[in-house]
Amino acid sequence: MVPSRDTGLGTDPRLPGDDSVLLMDWNESPLGPPPSAVRRVIEAAAQLHRYPRGLMEEVTSLVASHLTVSIDQVMLTAGVDEAIEMTLTLGQRAWATEPGFDGYPDRAAVAGKPFNPIRLDVDWQPLDDQLAVSDGDIVFLAQPGNPTGNVFPEEWVRAVRKAAEYVFIDETYFEFSSAPSVLPEVGCDPGLLVYRSFSKAFGLAGIRVGCLVADASVIGRLAPMRRFMPIDAVSLNAAAGVLADPDFIRALTEHVLAARPALARLLADSGVCAEVRETEANFVMARLRPDVADHVLATLDRNRIQVRHCDSLGLPGWLRISVGDWDDLSRLEATLATAKNHLPMEKR
Ligand SMILES: Cc1ncc(COP(=O)(O)O)c(C=O)c1O
Repeated sequence: MVPSRDTGLGTDPRLPGDDSVLLMDWNESPLGPPPSAVRRVIEAAAQLHRYPRGLMEEVTSLVASHLTVSIDQVMLTAGVDEAIEMTLTLGQRAWATEPGFDGYPDRAAVAGKPFNPIRLDVDWQPLDDQLAVSDGDIVFLAQPGNPTGNVFPEEWVRAVRKAAEYVFIDETYFEFSSAPSVLPEVGCDPGLLVYRSFSKAFGLAGIRVGCLVADASVIGRLAPMRRFMPIDAVSLNAAAGVLADPDFIRALTEHVLAARPALARLLADSGVCAEVRETEANFVMARLRPDVADHVLATLDRNRIQVRHCDSLGLPGWLRISVGDWDDLSRLEATLATAKNHLPMEKR
């Protein structure tokens, strides 16, 4: 079955290398992949007839030193989906925010686990101070969230962690956020599970690798569930490449932090948005003026700019727009100006 995950597209019209389409829909690296990862993949290609001997161990060790945790607290996974699937086996019921990342309810449904939504208010913060969570529950919280891009208050997260048996903190967008990581607490809280992605600040969404970090006893419980050599040599070599290149991660993060307010500003100044929220992730949220929305969306479409419509993510009328490079931002700005200039005078 084709997953419904976050595409909003139906059939994706893109072909690899089709630069005429501007992809501002899936929060990928605006600076391309890390050159160190590309180099290492090319060098390793001559060994593709071999099983990936020793590579899981090498990348696990590099991840552990990058995150300053111990090797037995790290498990590499096939992206966030495998991390969710494995950790769901620890609990009886799953919880996650709504609106929120669709991977949590999707995987819970596949695993046959009851799913309880945590409702958010108009500021995209939890409606209830107290959640009715208890032993046997696993709560999935993305800090920052997607599509909301904001962070929840530390005291609220602490209260959830106290009440639920397991809390999975998804730090996929951590590098772009002001919130401190909970990683330093992993060793003293066996109920805490942390996810880190290679897809955002590491610029490697194509490799489908992620890291689950938890107390060594929990990782030890989950490890036997793994298949034989579950991550391929190409992905592992790319991961090892970027981990040896912290300058790339720093440069990508700095770009996002500089370009994100510029993107928010150009959207706010475009005259076609009713509301813009900058977020703490690598995207900006915008709601178009209802009286011009169809016209603006058609103009974006004609100019081959893809953004993520958030209707199916629980935020009707909102668009999630990824931070691009500076040329991407100029192209978006020019396209929105064209859209505005073609409105009837009374709507401009
Ligand atoms: C909250 C959240 N977690 C995880 C992911 C994806 O993680 P990965 O690409 O590492 O599987 C995304 C992707 O957009 C996300 O928004």
